[in-house]
Amino acid sequence: MKLFTGSSSRQLGEEVARIAGIQLSHVEHHMFPDGEQRIQLREDVVDHDVVIVQSTGMPTDKNYIELFLLLDAATRNGAKSVTAVIPYLGYSRQDHIFRTGEARSLEVMIHGIEMNGATSVIGFDFHSIKTAELFPMHVTQLSALPIFASEIKMHGWLDNGTVLVSPDMGGLRRLGLLSEMLGGMGQVSVEKDRDLTTGEIAESGIHGKVKRRCLIVDDMISSGRTIVQAATILLQHGAEEIYVFATHAVFSEDAPKTLQASAVRKVFVTDTIAVPESKQFEKLEVLSIADLLVNALSSSR
Ligand code: R5P
Repeated sequence: MKLFTGSSSRQLGEEVARIAGIQLSHVEHHMFPDGEQRIQLREDVVDHDVVIVQSTGMPTDKNYIELFLLLDAATRNGAKSVTAVIPYLGYSRQDHIFRTGEARSLEVMIHGIEMNGATSVIGFDFHSIKTAELFPMHVTQLSALPIFASEIKMHGWLDNGTVLVSPDMGGLRRLGLLSEMLGGMGQVSVEKDRDLTTGEIAESGIHGKVKRRCLIVDDMISSGRTIVQAATILLQHGAEEIYVFATHAVFSEDAPKTLQASAVRKVFVTDTIAVPESKQFEKLEVLSIADLLVNALSSSR
């Protein structure tokens, strides 16, 4: 197996190579002054199983183009198979048409992944249960929920005073799975109504019994508004300690500042998206998915 990493997932790729005990293959990436990118694999891939790790968080379009170029370079140069490891799948919230006249953006990205030669895909905590079905090739979907479950157990948050919270109705399945891993922990859900044009979140309702300690679980944090909205409503219903578990640290706009200033005590995310130093904050803790990825790669060989 030859393992390459794109520029968005360098650290994760290095960690995967270290744990797997393999050499990371060399790839040269050049960005021209006009924003065009050039990719050159600096190793022979003929008849090799190639794995490319490239997350598609911000800058999303640049990272997608880099992924397409990496896939094309591997295919064009004779790789036997090409596995695209896409720890965070950008555009995944645009997986269907919300309003007439829109593009189905996620499908456009998936076409790019397919057309440039990916023979299989590995992803983490897709936004929707339907996402995996949109890919024409074999997809392995991994989840950070077991990592979150271990963290929750390690902190001793299995008592009766703790409840899992989904900040919107779309996260109920995710919440159910984590609850099961934690022996049936109680669940609360917040109703979120977002204006599709402004991104503003309207007043929410709540279902279930809020307890003293609330663990909000989501697939991603972008602006941080969903979390702040959920935390506000939980406080109004008697929560005293609020922690957040989210797989993908998209961190757009002022998310780090927003989260640091919020009522939540700690924000646990994973390294599906690398968090640069400029976006790190005191309440943040990054957990690694590298072990899960190594296991998945070795069982697919
Ligand atoms: C929405 O369906 C997602 O699961 C997240 O809750 C949402 O994308 C987070 O966005 P933001 O942080 O901007 O509120």
